[in-house]
Amino acid sequence: MVISVNLLEGKKVATSLDETMTKRVQVLKEKGVTPGLAVILVGDNSASAVYVRNKKRRAEKLGIDFQLIHFDTTVTEKELLSKINELNNDPAIDGFIVQLPVPDHIDEDKVIEAISPAKDVDGFTPISVGNLWIGTPLTKPATASGILMMLDYYNVDLDGKNVVIVGRSNIVGKPTAALMLNRNATVTITHSHTKNLKEITSKADVLVVAIGQAKFIKKDYVKDQAIVIDVGMDRDENGKLCGDVDFDDVKDHVSMITPVPGGVGPMTITALVDQVIELAEGRANG
Ligand code: GUN
Repeated sequence: MVISVNLLEGKKVATSLDETMTKRVQVLKEKGVTPGLAVILVGDNSASAVYVRNKKRRAEKLGIDFQLIHFDTTVTEKELLSKINELNNDPAIDGFIVQLPVPDHIDEDKVIEAISPAKDVDGFTPISVGNLWIGTPLTKPATASGILMMLDYYNVDLDGKNVVIVGRSNIVGKPTAALMLNRNATVTITHSHTKNLKEITSKADVLVVAIGQAKFIKKDYVKDQAIVIDVGMDRDENGKLCGDVDFDDVKDHVSMITPVPGGVGPMTITALVDQVIELAEGRANG
């Protein structure tokens, strides 16, 4: 008997959650509140342009007001900070993000710190990060939050599970660890300096991989019947889109796995728009 692998299909989950979110936006509009999301994009990084286009498409599909502020790569730090200050005080904007990376002449930390935590739908400001680790987040980083929304959809209970995260970025690894810890998982974060990585990952009930290296995780890194979340968006030797996990090598060995594309990616945007709608609901309810 051939047992087919259980896919964690973020694309399908996102489409299903879109229905509920569209209704929430309608309710808000009936109360005279339209959720507003702004994205600041600096320069012409092609990956960023694609991410921003996808965010715009999904936001507009749900009825959210989307504002793109696109600066030339020569914009000064002062001009950028002034725009952030303007958005912090714009009552029509519930949340905004500055798409990263920003050019080298701009201090990324300074930019993030200038964002009001109340509108920080990326969850990147030091105050947002502190609240997340305390366990009382106002906003949550979208990729991490999207992973949790997907696991909830598939009724995966994290309580007491052994979770191993490969990658310690502020955007994915660390916030995913915090959210899973808040769900009573036992969490280990591994990274490029970790010794005996394979020994650690092969004990994981849930393995989250976010390292940006095509097909790095093979079958011998993965415990039998583990749940594998692949955050990678890489190109293989033939230029084909793939993840950080070698899907074909591990697929018959795991209980659930995210495909790339169509896994974590669409959930990231779902989590972002969900957050904007939630902040707008807070505004509507005064
Ligand atoms: N660049 C890559 N991922 C992200 C993200 O989640 N938010 C922002 N602002 N920039 C990114």
